[in-house]
Amino acid sequence: MPHDFPMTDPRLAALSQTLPGLRLLTDAADLEHYGRDWTRRWTPAPLAIALPASVEEVQAIVRWANDEGVAIVPSGGRTGLSGGAVAANGELVLSLQRMNKVLGFDAVDRLLTVQAGIALEAVHNAAKEHGLVYPVDFAARGSCSIGGNIATNAGGIRVIRYGNTREWVAGLKVVSGNGELLELNRGLVKNSSGYDLRHLMVASEGTLGIVVEATLKLTDPPPPTNVMLLALPSFDALMQVFAEVRSRLRLEAFEFFIDRALHHTTAHGAQNPFDEIHPYYVVAEFANQGEPDEAAVLAAFEHCVEQGWVSDGVISQSEAQAAQLWRLREGITESLAPHVPYKNDVSVRISAMPAFLAETHALLAGEYPQFDVVWFGHIGDGNLHINVLKPADMAQQDFVRECERVTKLLSGALLRHGGSISAEHGIGLVKKPYLSSTRSDAEIAAMRGIKQALDPNGILNPGKLFDP
Ligand code: FAD
Ligand code: MLT
Ligand code: ZN
Repeated sequence: MPHDFPMTDPRLAALSQTLPGLRLLTDAADLEHYGRDWTRRWTPAPLAIALPASVEEVQAIVRWANDEGVAIVPSGGRTGLSGGAVAANGELVLSLQRMNKVLGFDAVDRLLTVQAGIALEAVHNAAKEHGLVYPVDFAARGSCSIGGNIATNAGGIRVIRYGNTREWVAGLKVVSGNGELLELNRGLVKNSSGYDLRHLMVASEGTLGIVVEATLKLTDPPPPTNVMLLALPSFDALMQVFAEVRSRLRLEAFEFFIDRALHHTTAHGAQNPFDEIHPYYVVAEFANQGEPDEAAVLAAFEHCVEQGWVSDGVISQSEAQAAQLWRLREGITESLAPHVPYKNDVSVRISAMPAFLAETHALLAGEYPQFDVVWFGHIGDGNLHINVLKPADMAQQDFVRECERVTKLLSGALLRHGGSISAEHGIGLVKKPYLSSTRSDAEIAAMRGIKQALDPNGILNPGKLFDP
């Protein structure tokens, strides 16, 4: 249904004259809803929300934005955790929500083509209909979009086996900052014909183009799996358990969290199978194709217990039990959300993890004695999430200032260990001040040049990732 109310802002009047069928929202509740993501830190203040239904409408909106000098915030499910989809400065939010269809499947190429606004879970379901899987997966699957996943190079719980979103993108259709439609890579397996602009779009956070369609690789379903929950007595044991388990089993996931995470998820209804409290936990999913795998998991478990690295453990005996164990890990973000956490999402090489963990542990214990600090993450990928919870009686501004002070120290540790200030959530607004801990001045200058080439008037998500 197109808008049927008068557009008082002359820029919006011009837009609705150009595209009379375009759905535009300007109600206060819509501006608030579409202007924020999961960070909840910035006050939404977009000009309006556009909900295009076709590539042509997206192109026309981008041309209008160039003519009128209006910034555009590309918007998917707004489950982002770094402020990339926040519209707090009179931008037009361009939501891909209505462009959410499966466009085609090619059985020979094993490629699924979708519109960018489709939810990750809908892609999982579409792949399943063809007996295949799209293996990128994480807890926001029901509400995040493929366009957002591509724009952040989303990771999740199966990166250890399948890699990040980037690995699964075979082609993209993108509307650039001047409204041109770019068809990138077109599903080719091999293509050495110059710069791969498809990969430039991955993790570009809506600053180089608007992804309108994606052609995704699918793969065979994994073998049957089991899930185990391990309790660890010390932080030092973590990487040793990982090395041991990885050497004996085909791992599909290896995730870690501390007792404070378990405290919050169980308060939200997850069930703790252990009677005792342990300081650290691992959820691991591994292929179980019968006797040899069962023997291997037992041997790994016994070895870890003998070494004093593991104090207790359970293995799922059914899908329902596996889901219960996963809930302890996957429920963390939602259980922490009411505390408006300050999130660090850092990575180092796996080999650098033991030294980085030791340094970071000591640093944060000293700097955050007064806060509830929840550690968890995709430790098998070298990716650690540190969530600092705001005390109820502390003003948001003071809390953020304190966390930013400590993040500066953390970014120093990342620089020393060759890591990244954002492993999988993107830079957005949250991590913009720390980009230089991961990228050199020359790299940032090159990124600015690329932005200039694809978005000459700087209308796509300005102020995200780096300042103009
Ligand atoms: P949005 O939040 O809408 O946007 C994110 C960025 O992408 C913004 O910069 C936006 O401008 C840009 N963008 C969106 N759509 C487009 C498009 N079509 N074209 C160009 N740019 C676009 N992330 C992980 O990586 N791993 C996890 O394990 C994980 N777990 C999560 C669990 C929960 C409960 C929640 C709430 C979030 C989690 N996230 C995780 C973060 C988030 O879900 C991902 O970053 C996701 O990829 C964002 O998708 P989205 O559609 O919600 O994007
Ligand atoms: C996760 O691994 O659960 C996510 O990346 C979300 C988060 O960091 O909160
Ligand atoms: Zn994560």
